Amino acid sequence: MKAMTLNSFGGPESFELCDVPKPVPHAGQVLVRVHATSINPLDFQVRRGDYRDLVPLPAITGHDVSGVVEAVGPGVTMFSPGDEVWYTPQIFDGPGSYAEYHVAAESIIGKKPPSLSHLEAASLTLVGGTAWEALVSRAALRVGESILIHGGAGGVGHVAIQVAKAIGAKVFTTVREDNFEFARSVGADVVIDYRKEDYVAAIMRETSGRGVDVVFDTIGGDTLSRSPDVLAQLGRVVTIVDIAQPQNLIESWGKNASIHFVFTRQNRGKLDELSTLVERGQLRPHVGAVYSLADISLAHARLETPNNGVRGKIAIAVGPSAHLASADF
Ligand SMILES: NC(=O)c1ccc[n+]([C@@H]2O[C@H](COP(=O)([O-])OP(=O)(O)OC[C@H]3O[C@@H](n4cnc5c(N)ncnc54)[C@H](OP(=O)(O)O)[C@@H]3O)[C@@H](O)[C@H]2O)c1
Repeated sequence: MKAMTLNSFGGPESFELCDVPKPVPHAGQVLVRVHATSINPLDFQVRRGDYRDLVPLPAITGHDVSGVVEAVGPGVTMFSPGDEVWYTPQIFDGPGSYAEYHVAAESIIGKKPPSLSHLEAASLTLVGGTAWEALVSRAALRVGESILIHGGAGGVGHVAIQVAKAIGAKVFTTVREDNFEFARSVGADVVIDYRKEDYVAAIMRETSGRGVDVVFDTIGGDTLSRSPDVLAQLGRVVTIVDIAQPQNLIESWGKNASIHFVFTRQNRGKLDELSTLVERGQLRPHVGAVYSLADISLAHARLETPNNGVRGKIAIAVGPSAHLASADF
């Protein structure tokens, strides 16, 4: 089968389209014909070598799959050939999804929501699972609470806004002004231009000095370290960003706050819950651009460029969906 392979770490040009053996499903595993994947910052972090201790070369990265079951290994009971499925491959444990076929444990695979195309489904698995884990499992966001979601036009952010609205929270978000309309279209109540206005001042003004119940940090650095400044009493900060520097989060103490660090984990339960929201019409990933597997280098270069004009996700069309690459969305 064809796979986009990394034989060395480096820039976007590091990918090589290679012929590699088609994987075989062992006990408890499912072989999936990949119809679509997508790209995440994790993929360019892997490509650059940020996780070189965890990723042996040659490597196939990629952390989203939407496709069709081709074969199942012994003991698999939930899936049969022909089923449409979606999942996030186990991170740092085996080949990823930039390939025509992928094998995964039955326990992390879900039935694809019927109303999503493969390109849409592959644009939701990792970011949706992350947003769900952050807001539902960790921050325990409740009806009537308020949340500040940083980076609301990004892959994780635009999905987190929709999950927060489905829960019944008031959503504040930081985006650049070009993305105000997009952020409102996915449910944001209050939009703040992070380049023109200090977000701490904006939140304190908009909440009459109370602050918000939850901050969801998708940016890190200064954005994370200042998050306690906008928390209400008993507030929660959830960050998904790899923290390179020690953070001064001392302001949290006086607010009885909690800080949650999330590194998304794979399981079918989260996918099934996301699927429920999708089928109720409360959640839909936005596919901002589509590239072919052969053009993965271009897709990486674009995702790494700030203000790249992409709202939501960059999807990758694979195999039977390949003709959809570069289609307008
Ligand atoms: N821990 C985990 O499990 C996990 C899972 C998923 C993602 N992540 C991490 O989460 C981060 C976001 O991922 P993603 O997939 O959402 O990336 P993405 O699709 O590239 O989105 C990032 C968004 O942040 C915006 N942004 C940049 N600087 C900002 C600032 N100072 N304030 C507000 N918004 C700003 C960008 O907008 P512009 O166009 O305006 O630049 C972009 O819309 C990455 O660091 C990723 O590695 C972690």
